[in-house]
Amino acid sequence: MQVQFLDAASTSGCSLVARLVNQDAIPADLEPLLAEGAKRSRFSGKVGQIYEGFAERGGKVVRVALAGVGKAEAKERSANIEKAGAAIAGKYLRSGETEILFDFTGSGISAEEAAAALLAARMRGWALDSYKTKLSDDKKISLATISVTGAPEDTETAWQAASALATGVEFTRELVTEPANTIYPESFVARCRERMEGSGLSIRTLDGDEMRELGMGALLGVSQGSVREPRMLIMEWMGGAEGEAPVAFVGKGVTFDTGGISLKQPGGMEDMKWDMGGAGAVAGTMLALALRKAKANVIGVCGLVENMPDGNAQRPGDVVTSMSGQTIEVINTDAEGRLVLCDAMTWVQRNYKPARMVDLATLTGAIIAALAHEYAGIFSNNDALAADLTAAGEASGDRLWRFPMGPAYDKQLESPIADMKNVGSRYGGSITAAQFLKRFVENDTPWAHLDIAGMVWADKPGATWAKGATGYGVRLLDRFVRDTLES
Ligand code: BES
Ligand code: MN
Ligand code: ZN
Repeated sequence: MQVQFLDAASTSGCSLVARLVNQDAIPADLEPLLAEGAKRSRFSGKVGQIYEGFAERGGKVVRVALAGVGKAEAKERSANIEKAGAAIAGKYLRSGETEILFDFTGSGISAEEAAAALLAARMRGWALDSYKTKLSDDKKISLATISVTGAPEDTETAWQAASALATGVEFTRELVTEPANTIYPESFVARCRERMEGSGLSIRTLDGDEMRELGMGALLGVSQGSVREPRMLIMEWMGGAEGEAPVAFVGKGVTFDTGGISLKQPGGMEDMKWDMGGAGAVAGTMLALALRKAKANVIGVCGLVENMPDGNAQRPGDVVTSMSGQTIEVINTDAEGRLVLCDAMTWVQRNYKPARMVDLATLTGAIIAALAHEYAGIFSNNDALAADLTAAGEASGDRLWRFPMGPAYDKQLESPIADMKNVGSRYGGSITAAQFLKRFVENDTPWAHLDIAGMVWADKPGATWAKGATGYGVRLLDRFVRDTLES
């Protein structure tokens, strides 16, 4: 979906006009028929409400949609504006209309808010329909253009950054939505290379042999049951001060998680195509940062493997040696994400000495039991980093809730044969997973682990998505970079 800015004189071709309306403040300049129609339909401008009517303007009949944004002084103002922008896009996405004119005249909103409405509209307008060969014409996406008029002067500038962010979110959703026969480690990399071409990101990969050379026995152990070759994808964006240590984002990219020999139950196993949601969020974030030319040094690393059962798969009880030199007894081959992440974390620390390191992973079902689909879990060895990420979460809408860590949890990982086991006891599974990762943090690098298992995929439509991939993490990390590195 494309967004364009029009001056008032060039809007006459638009046959669908959307306006944001504050609660109990139907605009005075509205045609009486529309104003009366809205009132009679009990449209009051509450968040999410839409009233649609028709009006005659310049000798043409135009469709007018009023979208409620709630009270002007609401503290969730920006989220409310997003909801309204998304609701409009959602309503007309497959309506036959090809263009919506967002007319912000008299709405009193700021440039940032206008950009937020457009961002939300673009996010809500994304869908992957390419596998639907029998979609009837009246169900196809028709909406292609969002035109904007009457917005505050700086809206175009604000939109440039928001548009980069939208592209990042869309790319993450695409990676997450694609099935595992399409997106596997090599094709994940290929898709990134293709999409990131010309963005200024520098991209590198490690293949299986190179990882063997480096001693990444933990990651390779997960991969060894699959015919798909593993990859480590490294994306570099050095838009900040020269010589300044970068921030590192590390993503779990299990392109399909069967559980391995500790095989998962069949019911719902198809969901495990999105077990690369952490890697997807890292890739989408890097794309967004590059497209908006972020003034920050950021490294994105994705550990990409497929976890399959096979004659060559690793067995429960196998002991693997990680790149850090620490040995791991693999009790459960389904606790594979931490095995992938630990080697990726070691690699990025040894190669970049990051100032801060944040990993994102669909790591445990236990985090969904704890937080459902409202917050991702955050675990950290550093209060300032945890606070920065939590604040970015609140500001962006990709929310985080902090969990405790400590030696009592760590103790659960003791192994009779190796330096550690890869699972703890039955309880506190998200925390023991984080304790496992913490053992791979070097030199007290400020580190945070985000368990995003409950956030990557939605079984119900949300404000800015239909069902399916949410793109969680991209807005969070973009905001984190903006607020901690660029201001
Ligand atoms: N990818 C799963 C976690 C997951 C489960 C994500 C459900 C999204 C929805 C992860 O690899 C896994 O299997 N974790 C196990 C860990 C256990 C074996 C200690 C889990 O959560 O059951
Ligand atoms: Mn698993
Ligand atoms: Zn997994």
